[in-house]
Amino acid sequence: MSKEKAAHQVFARKYRPQGFEELIGQPAVSQTLSNALTAKRTHHAYLFTGPRGCGKTTTARILAKALNCAKGPTPTPCDECVSCREIALSSSLDVLEMDAASHTGVDDVREVIIETVALAPTRDRYKVFIIDEAHMLSNSAFNALLKTIEEPPPHVVFILATTEAHKVPATIASRCQRFKFRPIAADLLAEYLAAVAKKEKIAVEPEALDLLARAAEGSLRDAVSLLDQTRSVGDGTVTVESVREMFGFVPQDLLIGVAGALLARDPRALAGWLKKIYEEGIEPAQLIKDLRAAIEGAYLVKLGAGEPVDALWTKALSGASAEGLGFLLRRLNRALEELRYGDSPRLALELGLFSTLEAAHDLGAWVARLEALEKRLVAGGGGNALSPQAARSTILKDSCGEAEIAATASVRPISWPALVEAVSKEKITLGAALEKSRGELKPGGGYRIQFSKPFDLDMAKRSAAVIETALARLAGRPVALELLLGSPDAATASDIVDRGMPVSAAGADAPPGTRWKDIGEGASGGGAGGGACGGLKNAEGVFGGKARIIKKNTP
Ligand SMILES: Nc1ncnc2c1ncn2[C@@H]1O[C@H](COP(=O)(O)OP(=O)(O)OP(=O)(O)O)[C@@H](O)[C@H]1O
Ligand SMILES: [Mg+2]
Ligand SMILES: [Zn+2]
Repeated sequence: MSKEKAAHQVFARKYRPQGFEELIGQPAVSQTLSNALTAKRTHHAYLFTGPRGCGKTTTARILAKALNCAKGPTPTPCDECVSCREIALSSSLDVLEMDAASHTGVDDVREVIIETVALAPTRDRYKVFIIDEAHMLSNSAFNALLKTIEEPPPHVVFILATTEAHKVPATIASRCQRFKFRPIAADLLAEYLAAVAKKEKIAVEPEALDLLARAAEGSLRDAVSLLDQTRSVGDGTVTVESVREMFGFVPQDLLIGVAGALLARDPRALAGWLKKIYEEGIEPAQLIKDLRAAIEGAYLVKLGAGEPVDALWTKALSGASAEGLGFLLRRLNRALEELRYGDSPRLALELGLFSTLEAAHDLGAWVARLEALEKRLVAGGGGNALSPQAARSTILKDSCGEAEIAATASVRPISWPALVEAVSKEKITLGAALEKSRGELKPGGGYRIQFSKPFDLDMAKRSAAVIETALARLAGRPVALELLLGSPDAATASDIVDRGMPVSAAGADAPPGTRWKDIGEGASGGGAGGGACGGLKNAEGVFGGKARIIKKNTP
């Protein structure tokens, strides 16, 4: 064992709880066991299940003390009598600990347990058998144990502990009283670490403790060892930066950069940040996890459910709506999943992040942009200007009474920068030509690109297939391409679509509480609208999407 590891054990052992009241984050367990001890209604076999490092073995020893304390059985063992002291040092002859990880066989069970079960306790009230990592026992070992657990002598108590409850045969589990240990909540872990740091006189930044708590993933043992590890590097002060450095957490500025590019839907900026991230040698999975953790914090705050996050993050995400952040979180989760099962972490990362840029997510922003569009149409309407509401009806309402139209998520909006980016990846000269030109969805469908130089137009014509492929990928379906010479004119309605106006979310990514009911696909011809709904086709042209008739649900 390395010197470092030995040091951690000392640290964890030093702070091992000696009584139920010192146990962190397991109120149900300590309460139930304390009550049973008070009422003198203890069981002869217990099964402690739960993740690593959350107090199973510790509780088993406390229970053994509680049963065998000279002043017991009591929920508050004295810690002074010989029994208590010996149990704390694991040297009691009446409390036998067996590590099933290294004693898996039937012979081990016979030797350690079955042959001693019948013997009376040497000194104490009970003979307590603590079988740690119980899931490691072989089948024959479990079978040998079965009869004894079923009908043990009255002075025997079994405590089985395991991280993998499902591997304990039902025949055994059903004969035990079962206690589920929970992973310890991050805020409790951080609080505990702060207390340990104070006792150990370790200088710490509170945010650094939050990071450590997060890295410990519910294990108190890990949290304490991590604190000890970070203390031993650097000048002994535990800072956010030292923790980040040590655990490969992604630096804050990179995370905020990526989040900012995602929210601004800026593929260029995103690509720039990713480049930096690769240069720093950061793992794609780590980036997504850290990003997710930060955005999750901000998301909960937006929902009014969380503690305020870092000021830097509050600022970075101030423009985002709760549903926008929720959408991002779902996308990050998906990317992480794909990363786990794919063979190229980088590809999974890039696909995950870039696809986020293309997709629709922010209904609030969509409505705002729709209103801007209406205003512009009204302003351009000349003498017989319509009210915004009337304009909305013209655009959105078909002639079928209550029915309204919304483009569906089945066709994604086409963002011009994303198109330029995608083409540049394939053919850099063509990408450069596109940068000097202008693309837009045509009112009647299809996509038009206008070039100011004949040379650029010629090149584009020769490589039209590259543009068409990129276009189809972004739109999620083939799009007719028109290439022509001409100077870009003033902003038009489609300009808004150009800038990546998200199409109303329907289906998986729709925000909760959407009040619209889909009553048919107008564009499919046979739907509720049909020829009567001329407005549908119109809207499709404007939004570059596929129109559906939906009905507003009455609340
Ligand atoms: N709930 C808890 N409250 C206080 N300290 C704890 C708790 N859980 C774990 N610890 C600390 O972590 C150390 C290890 O805990 P313990 O051995 O009880 O974990 P475990 O659940 O048995 O883990 P494993 O499944 O890995 O065996 C203890 O010595 C103690 O310092
Ligand atoms: Mg254990
Ligand atoms: Zn005692």
